[in-house]
Amino acid sequence: MKAFAVFVMVSASYACPWAVAGPDKPGATAVIRTVDVALPNGREAFPLGTGADLANAHCVICHSVGMVTRQPPLSFQEWKAEVTKMRAAYGAPFDADQIEPIARYLTVIDGKP
Ligand code: HEC
Repeated sequence: MKAFAVFVMVSASYACPWAVAGPDKPGATAVIRTVDVALPNGREAFPLGTGADLANAHCVICHSVGMVTRQPPLSFQEWKAEVTKMRAAYGAPFDADQIEPIARYLTVIDGKP
């Protein structure tokens, strides 16, 4: 990762429309620094498995994969309730017959032992 800094000196000039200086601050100087930062990458897709395609298609429209996979393990019934809630309460746009396949997949990747 490279980091660099740029210092821009803007000298005051009434002829220059973008000059930082004004009538009250003649000769003011602006120093602008830019810095590169690398943020950790979030997981962008669900782990492979039967039903992962459904989760990838329907569960990352509104939030991250991590919002789902960082939950404590749930039973199949609990995942079913969770997926049903996403559809009924938050309006997730998938058909009711996809609730069970998605819940089954989530139970495999993050189910109660
Ligand atoms: C239409 C938008 C939308 C879609 C699509 C969606 N969710 Fe959510 N989800 C939400 C909202 C809103 C929250 C609550 C976020 C918060 O509390 O900050 C949430 C939160 C969650 C949570 C955290 C626990 C909770 O109940 O708040 C889980 C787990 C979750 N969603 C799973 C899923 C799964 C699995 C799918 C795919 C079947 C899905 N979501 C699809 C909107 C959606």
